[in-house]
This record gives sequence, structure tokens and C-alpha cells, in this order.
Amino acid sequence: MNQYVRLGVNIDHVATLRNARGGQDPHLLQMALAVEEAGADGITIHLREDRRHIKDEDVWLLRSHLRTPMNLEMAATDEMVRIALKAMPKACCIVPEHRREVTTEGGLNVVNQLSELGMQVAKLSDAGIEVSLFIDADRDQIQAAHDIGAPVIELHTGEYANASSPQLVDTELERLEEASAFARSLGMIVNAGHGLTKFNVAPIAAIDGMNELNIGHSLIARSLMIGLPAAVREFREIMDRACQ
Ligand code: PXP
Repeated sequence: MNQYVRLGVNIDHVATLRNARGGQDPHLLQMALAVEEAGADGITIHLREDRRHIKDEDVWLLRSHLRTPMNLEMAATDEMVRIALKAMPKACCIVPEHRREVTTEGGLNVVNQLSELGMQVAKLSDAGIEVSLFIDADRDQIQAAHDIGAPVIELHTGEYANASSPQLVDTELERLEEASAFARSLGMIVNAGHGLTKFNVAPIAAIDGMNELNIGHSLIARSLMIGLPAAVREFREIMDRACQ
């Protein structure tokens, strides 16, 4: 096996905690720098339409101080594309967004939005931003993502994470493996994320050719127990062990 899978740490929930009291504690930039220092390969933030965690000023502050690539998750709206083109993160991951959802609930329906998504992908790509589409492990969606020129997909691992029996876990893992192989056969880069924990991340990291995993909630939750740098190192070690 022996592959290196990049670890992108989603720090949205550091901002959730900060926003609970309205001040600067915990300080998002300090935490992001600690995450980088501990070995993360990138920082992921989701600027949601309702700004429930990450705020516009966070984007600008992180943008000027991060040492690793910033991955900006966002809906494919004109407003978000405008912000991305100004902030110029290394990567943008386009996700579906519904106001009342607790978190992203599933992948994009690229097949049904070919022209709208194609336009936004082109604007971001033309500016030199690496565009990724967050999609389910589905051949038609992957083909559509490829057809509209997205170089990267992020496979939604939520169904895998929520699978309620070992058989279902295996079925979901197989779906992800097949989807990843198909996307790679089209020349696409494959990332994955959502619902990954220290208990379920290893088989996903071990998927052949996996480029990057984006992990947020469970890593930030784990950091309450063992500290943020230790939580980053713990995920890093589990991923490395899975790929030996
Ligand atoms: N990838 C994408 C596209 C997401 O929307 C999210 C959640 O913001 C994540 C990864 C991280 O998911 P989790 O917080 O469950 O680790």
C-alpha cells in the first residue's frame, strides 16, 4: 500500500465554540496555527450562508496567516464565488447547503445542475483555484463532475459513517472504493470526508489512491479530551498506520 494521505482539518467547530459567547475565545487563528504545527496538511473552513460558525473576517485572517493550503467549503452561489475569487484559497469544495440542516447532509446533485455548477466551476478554475465537488459515491455524479471540468471530487463518507451494521459498513466501503477507482480512471483527484472518526477512518485512508481526508467534528471533539495538537497527531498516526 504505502501511500501518504493528506489530513485536512476542518476547524468550523472551533468557531462554533467561540461564537457561543461572542468573543475571541478560542481564538480561531491560534487554533489553526496549532493544528498546522501538529502536522495537518491543510485547514478547511465552511463559510455557510447563515455564517453560523465561520465568519467573513475569519476567511481574511486565516487567508493571510495560514502556512498550509486553505480549503474553502461553500455553496455554489454568486455571493460565495465572489468571496472565493477575492480570498483566493488554494482549493474550494462546493457543497450543497440547506439552511435548516445541522451539517451537510449529502453530496451535490451535479447531474441535475450541470450548467449552473459548470459555470461556477469554470469561474473558480479560471482564477487558478482547485475546485472540488462534494458528491456521493455514485458513478453518474462522478461522470457529471468530470464532464463539467472539476479536477477533484470529495466523496461523502456520511453513509459509511452512519452505517448501522458491519455488513452495511462493508457495503458502503465497497461503494466508496469503486467510486474512487472510477474517478481515478477519469484522471480525477479523490478526497473524502464527513463523519470520519478515529474508529472508522482507517479503511477510508487505505482506499487506493486516496489524496486527502477532511475531518472536523470528531477531531475537534476529541481535542477536548486530549488537546488539539494531540488529536491531530492521533488522526495522523491512525491514517499513516492504515496506509503502511
Ligand atoms: N467535508 C465536507 C465537504 C463537509 O461539508 C464536512 C462538514 O463540514 C466535512 C468534510 C467534515 O465533516 P465532519 O465534521 O463530520 O468531520
